[in-house]
Amino acid sequence: MKIKPSKNIEAIGGYVFDEINKIKEDLIKKGVDIIDFGVGDPTTPTPEFIREQTKKSIDKYKASGYPITTGNENYLNAIAKYCKKRFNIDLNPQTQIMSNLGSKEAIFNFPNAFLNNGDVVLCPNPGYPAYDRGTLFAGGKPYYMNLTQDNDFYPDFNLIPDDILKKSKIMWLNYPNNPTTQIATKEFYKEALDICHDNNIILSSDEAYSEIYFDEPAISLLEIDTEGVIVFNSLSKRSAMTGYRIAWTAGDENIISLFKKLKANIDSGTPNFIQDAAITALGDEAHVEKMRNEYKQKRDILISAFDQIDLAVKKPEATIYIWQKTGNINGIEFTKQLLEKCGIVVSPGEIFANTIDDINPADNFVRVALVPSIEKTKEAAERLLKLK
Ligand SMILES: Cc1ncc(COP(=O)(O)O)c(C=O)c1O
Repeated sequence: MKIKPSKNIEAIGGYVFDEINKIKEDLIKKGVDIIDFGVGDPTTPTPEFIREQTKKSIDKYKASGYPITTGNENYLNAIAKYCKKRFNIDLNPQTQIMSNLGSKEAIFNFPNAFLNNGDVVLCPNPGYPAYDRGTLFAGGKPYYMNLTQDNDFYPDFNLIPDDILKKSKIMWLNYPNNPTTQIATKEFYKEALDICHDNNIILSSDEAYSEIYFDEPAISLLEIDTEGVIVFNSLSKRSAMTGYRIAWTAGDENIISLFKKLKANIDSGTPNFIQDAAITALGDEAHVEKMRNEYKQKRDILISAFDQIDLAVKKPEATIYIWQKTGNINGIEFTKQLLEKCGIVVSPGEIFANTIDDINPADNFVRVALVPSIEKTKEAAERLLKLK
């Protein structure tokens, strides 16, 4: 029997990473001590009090049982309370909030509740892959909104043709932004909302990095409006809980109710003991503050090193990344140089963006994920000076 992939599966590439992984593996075989700023997955342990709560709650829920797919009452109430405290917004926990296994899964699945074949979804470029892949698998067509330095890494809404706007059902935004690190302003959100309200487009705001900010707390789109809006947030980065798979969405009850209906057909919900762990995590800010401080220190160490090797630097105000310009070579060449000369892994910018009309808006950048320890980051900064 011949097993054939679907067109959508076949279209998914990945060769750039394959090449970089090959160089990395060869260096490891030669005994080089690699410092890995590639994947955006925190390496710090999940705080002990969260792990302790998980252990206790495994016993609390002795009989496993399927959880409520869209979140138990305690978890939904905890999100509502958290949103009131953090963003000063009032949300009805039963109708305006739901639980998700992780925001990756939620983002990927979401368009299935709203798209018919050929509908358009507006996706930032570069952007998190689940926006366009989820669109394609739901039968929609992504339209890419480039995030360029010239436009401060915001989409230029004037460039979207009218016929595309008319066919669009969802617009994805992601601030604080992965990979460019840009943060949103109220004015920007208002502009996006006006366009979406005028054209009947759901405004979907991925706020996975809302808690990793360094100066002012990042704002949420929910602070401006909930009509036609859904926000995706997650415990992954806030509380170093990527492996727990717990997230939440909130916004317009008409959107939430359809998304709940879809989700009931996809998965059976996050385990109750994980929801308990998330409630405990949401009740504490001290561990988040500590994490923000660590990311800030690592940011400053590397920014100073990039500056010393004469690369133009933009200090991130949020996220766990640096979006570094690569000077007169492209991101892939720069990534190879860093690996071969310094034993440092970063991600070439172009893997986060689609090439449209021969232009890849991210090809002169690399993304540096601030996940190694402060000590390792200091060592990496010293190694970087070899590039001077
Ligand atoms: C922009 C963005 N959105 C969503 C996610 C998914 O987070 P999770 O599925 O862990 O909640 C990530 C993960 O790196 C991300 O960078």
